[in-house]
Amino acid sequence: MSPYAVLVGPPGAGKSTIGRRLAQALSLELLDTDVAIERETGRTIADIFSHDGEPAFRQIEERIVAGALASHDGIVSLGGGAVLSASTRALLSKHRVVYLEISVAEGLRRTGANTVRPLLAGPDPRAKYQELMRHRRPLYRSVATVRVRTDSRSPARVVGQLVSKL
Ligand code: S3P
Repeated sequence: MSPYAVLVGPPGAGKSTIGRRLAQALSLELLDTDVAIERETGRTIADIFSHDGEPAFRQIEERIVAGALASHDGIVSLGGGAVLSASTRALLSKHRVVYLEISVAEGLRRTGANTVRPLLAGPDPRAKYQELMRHRRPLYRSVATVRVRTDSRSPARVVGQLVSKL
């Protein structure tokens, strides 16, 4: 079994919304790895970050993502930082991976002052988001087989485009 497609991209790119709608359009199931992490651990992501730290979160994420890629045959939506793991990137090379692209300005507008995302919490979310994108953009690009901009299009148009591209 292998996912039909895997969605990657930064926070605010629309992975959850597009994932849900794309799965619906294709009559497939969506597996969101952030949701799977919270379900399996019985904890929120914010709680794991604040009590155990980011490296501990990344370890859990790596394991859950590997399980999802090996066993889910619908759409898989990954947390924005999943591509930081070299072993996850190696696994992704065998899959159809959609990079949902978004500008820094729009990504920030959508995530807002959302403290549920620990990596953007703090006094200067803009600087954090910019730095995060500088580091991750090449990683998202390296795993992507399809790239779609989500900032100036409605979710319905993005999904329509993906249905015809995939
Ligand atoms: C993270 C993004 C979050 C979540 C965690 C870390 C990141 O998922 O996995 O807070 O490093 O970018 P979303 O991309 O769905 O917000």
